[in-house]
Amino acid sequence: MGVPAAGGSCSAVVATTTAAVFLLLLLLCGCGAPAAMAAPGGGGGGEQQYDGGARYKDPRQPLNRRIEDLLARMTLAEKIGQMSQIERENATADVVRGYFVGSVLSGGGSVPAPQAPAEAWVEMVNEMQRAAMSTRLGIPMLYGIDAVHGHGNVYKATVFPHNVGLGCTRDPELVKKIGAATALEVRATGIPYVFAPCVAVCRDPRWGRCYESYSEDPRVVQQMTSSIIPGLQGEIPANGRRGAPFVAGQRNVAACSKHYVGDGGTTRGINENNTAASFHELLGVHMPPYYSAVIQGVSTVMVSFSSWNRVKMHANHFLVTDFLKNRLRFRGFVISDWRGLDKMTSPEHDDYITSVKLGILAGIDMVMIPYTYTEFVDDLTALVRNGTIPTSRIDDAVRRILRVKFTMGLFEDPYGDPSLAGELGKPEHRELAREAVRRSLVLLKNGKPGQKPLLPLPKKAGRILVAGSHADNLGYQCGGWTITWQGLGGNNLTAGTTILNGIKRAVQDHGTEVVYSESPDAGFVQRNKGRFDYAVVVVGEPPYAESFGDNLNLTIPEPGPSVIRVVCGGGIRCAVVLVSGRPLAVEPYVGAVDALVAAWLPGTEGEGVSDVLFGDYGFTGKLARTWFRSVEQLPMNVGDARYDPLFPFGFGLGLETQPSTA
Ligand SMILES: *[C@@H]1O[C@H](CO)[C@@H](O)[C@H](O)[C@H]1NC(C)=O
Ligand SMILES: *[C@@H]1O[C@H](CO)[C@@H](O)[C@H](O)[C@H]1NC(C)=O
Ligand SMILES: *[C@@H]1O[C@H](CO)[C@@H](O)[C@H](O)[C@H]1NC(C)=O
Ligand SMILES: *[C@@H]1O[C@H](CO)[C@@H](O)[C@H](O)[C@H]1NC(C)=O
Ligand SMILES: *[C@@H]1O[C@H](CO)[C@@H](O)[C@H](O)[C@H]1NC(C)=O
Repeated sequence: MGVPAAGGSCSAVVATTTAAVFLLLLLLCGCGAPAAMAAPGGGGGGEQQYDGGARYKDPRQPLNRRIEDLLARMTLAEKIGQMSQIERENATADVVRGYFVGSVLSGGGSVPAPQAPAEAWVEMVNEMQRAAMSTRLGIPMLYGIDAVHGHGNVYKATVFPHNVGLGCTRDPELVKKIGAATALEVRATGIPYVFAPCVAVCRDPRWGRCYESYSEDPRVVQQMTSSIIPGLQGEIPANGRRGAPFVAGQRNVAACSKHYVGDGGTTRGINENNTAASFHELLGVHMPPYYSAVIQGVSTVMVSFSSWNRVKMHANHFLVTDFLKNRLRFRGFVISDWRGLDKMTSPEHDDYITSVKLGILAGIDMVMIPYTYTEFVDDLTALVRNGTIPTSRIDDAVRRILRVKFTMGLFEDPYGDPSLAGELGKPEHRELAREAVRRSLVLLKNGKPGQKPLLPLPKKAGRILVAGSHADNLGYQCGGWTITWQGLGGNNLTAGTTILNGIKRAVQDHGTEVVYSESPDAGFVQRNKGRFDYAVVVVGEPPYAESFGDNLNLTIPEPGPSVIRVVCGGGIRCAVVLVSGRPLAVEPYVGAVDALVAAWLPGTEGEGVSDVLFGDYGFTGKLARTWFRSVEQLPMNVGDARYDPLFPFGFGLGLETQPSTA
């Protein structure tokens, strides 16, 4: 593959200098490569000289001066490089250098090696960074990754509950701590940027990304947005400026609120589809989290694949430029979604140059290309050269990208710090995740009419039965966006504790025998029902992500219903724990079960479930979604005129509550 050479006008950076200034510059530059500062052929462009050095490299200079100084030195190729985000797989040192690549990402599951330790991630990122720093202007590249429920791609990271569970905690302070812990774990792998939080307001659980949404209620999403962003990026000081991109330091990361806007409002929850809504409906339901994100100084915003009233968001100049940038005065950069430009046409990638034109003119600043970077660079270059895209648009994009890089300190600290490796999956973070699991559980039923509540379960019992596909499956309880894009089944994907192991640990000092049978047959239950004090049945959805999770029936997949029928209908008192990314159709089973708990997608710390089942902690979670009776009711959200849910928004029993009559 051909790698273009640095073209155009070079800037004179260091002509004459004293040894002291030179040394200082070396330190500031952090790259130890004098060649990066020498500019043979010098003289170009008519830029101001600054004490014999580059003003943009001087952190004492005002932000805007650094931005303008650097921008004035950049060639078109360097500018377009800044606007390009390519996949890790493509980011060899030659490509990073040759294309002046501004950003690299890991797609879901894109890792340097299976089970790579933190040190290998740091080394990978730093190697790419060394290439970026060795270019003429030494502009650091920004590495980004999806860390939507902890640093989910990374082996042995702490995996927190997905947002659908966090919404039920109604605890923004807890969510802020999760943001801070996630930032540290991401930094432990040398990465300074996350494509999180997802601030979608999911209005239809048939959507495959509904678990990435905190709530159907924009107010809950706003609350969590206002806390997770300062968790990830650090708190803006009391006297600090609101609304400008902000990252506190090297233990925080740049965040990205996504997917702008209306991603959770598509027809029948079809992923990437059309959100039909008036402007004021859009403002009322889907926009509020972006007000919060901008006020909290979110560094970046990702555009949604979806359309608003049949216009692709990736082409929506009104919402991206007029509204987000001009009206809300968002000063960070706007990034496309993965192959978002390709997906502007059907079939995909059909008229790519037109998509590039529409996307950049709409106001997208950085393009998550991620693989076809030669074509992207060629097309964008052609569109600028012939005047279709004005240079002012390119300069706006690059200013925004540089603003984020400068404010986050990337020029001063471009490299990952290997000494943070111990932050990954550390016990304090696992304890926090376990707390989040406890707080996210929602008790939907406890006891049949006329009977005592089943929960809390006694730890001291003769023999108990644990059953169901999700009882001993770490991958299932983590869900999508864990180790791989779609998630995995089984227990060897990463480190963690299954719900079964949590139950075993809870009862181990009480002489209770735990019998585990994933899918017990009816004969076994009939023969043994008198010998079990009670059963815990854990069933739910297999992992999925994005369109693969779209589902129009929302039934509990088999063998879940069979196990409920055999165990709960077979005469053993049973608590059913549902592991799912959304409410499912449970009305057919709810009468047969003694207790029903929504555990959502709890992540690696399954002991959070047993902590609450056995009463060491109370149930405090409240539904952040409406629990429908049947899918025919959907979409149905709190505040709707026709509202007849099985369990309403805000519902959640405590242990002190009387048995329900359900
Ligand atoms: C980028 O990497 C992908 C996946 O390895 C590969 O298929 C593609 O050809 C690469 N793109 C370029 C332009 O080299
Ligand atoms: C929405 O989904 C339908 C059915 O799959 C499809 O025909 C249509 O093109 C989609 N609309 C958008 C805007 O993606
Ligand atoms: C610029 O180039 C694009 C892509 O080749 C083409 O579609 C467009 O018509 C050209 N515009 C002008 C003004 O030449
Ligand atoms: C995990 O188990 C699966 C299924 O048994 C197997 O295919 C995979 O290779 C295992 N992975 C590791 C890392 O051991
Ligand atoms: C429900 O929908 C999912 C996703 O389309 C499908 O895989 C499953 O078979 C359906 N289940 C039933 C019972 O129709």
